[in-house]
Amino acid sequence: MADLNQDTVTEAVIAQMASTPDPRMRQVMESLVRHLHGFAREVKLTPEEWLAAIGFLTRVGQACTPYRQEFILLSDTLGLSRLVNLMDDQANRVGEATETSLLGPFYREAAPQFGYGDSIAVHARGPEMMLFGRVVNEKNEGVPNAIVEIWSTDADGAYDLQANDPSVMDMRGQFRTDAQGRYAIRTLIPLGYSIPMDGPVGDMVRAQRRHGFRPAHIHMLVGAEGYRELVTALYLGNDPHIDSDTVFGVSETLIVQPRTGLADSPDPGLPSVHYDFHISRRAPHDKSGRVGADPSKVTAE
Ligand code: BEZ
Ligand code: FE
Repeated sequence: MADLNQDTVTEAVIAQMASTPDPRMRQVMESLVRHLHGFAREVKLTPEEWLAAIGFLTRVGQACTPYRQEFILLSDTLGLSRLVNLMDDQANRVGEATETSLLGPFYREAAPQFGYGDSIAVHARGPEMMLFGRVVNEKNEGVPNAIVEIWSTDADGAYDLQANDPSVMDMRGQFRTDAQGRYAIRTLIPLGYSIPMDGPVGDMVRAQRRHGFRPAHIHMLVGAEGYRELVTALYLGNDPHIDSDTVFGVSETLIVQPRTGLADSPDPGLPSVHYDFHISRRAPHDKSGRVGADPSKVTAE
């Protein structure tokens, strides 16, 4: 142990942690130490820089509340949430199942229930659109009674949680598919918005001269008995930030463009999007597809 130098300290730490009984924890921590030390060596980290980083991480923790998870926002803006989602999709997504996207911090449990074709805009006003299609299984058969949850910004790019009275729910709802697996939702055309920029993550994003915007999108959560819960979002292809999402949530297969005159739309006069959600059977080891900035799922011990 004596006479450690910068070439031997990494192995000394790993040797001391070798007593960890949980094999996965041992593997993760060994790799973490190797990469952290490698990073410090690569950038020749100075004590002042490391103190500044500790100050930043402290501010990130202090910004967290039951309604705000600044660490997940940090993970999102560093692309780590997307990386974890992509790896999980590659390991567990079956066949043609719809790709996942970030849950984000604005999901709420117990959203109001609506019927086929109803509007989720109870208070908000703005240009409307129709989202419709089917929830289908691996054989392209409609899944009846699937739950389709939607939450979206109003036409100004704000969620109900950001309104003056966040106890009022608006622009969100739960729908059930019919016997053929069909759903139809009337909503407002969403607007792109800035991630919360009033905390340390916002300071970081500004220091990097990034714009901080997410392209306009509609969040969706689709589930049915015996199927893997799908957490995803549909992105409007004409948004100026479609190729530079600050949290890296966009996939090509999730980009849509509302168009009027779609013959099979429940209201062809409205700009409409026909999108079928493909869900896959739940495997015995599956937990939930909810990977993202959902503060209610983060536990502090
Ligand atoms: C969202 O889409 O709601 C979101 C996702 C990650 C960070 C901030 C917002
Ligand atoms: Fe969002």
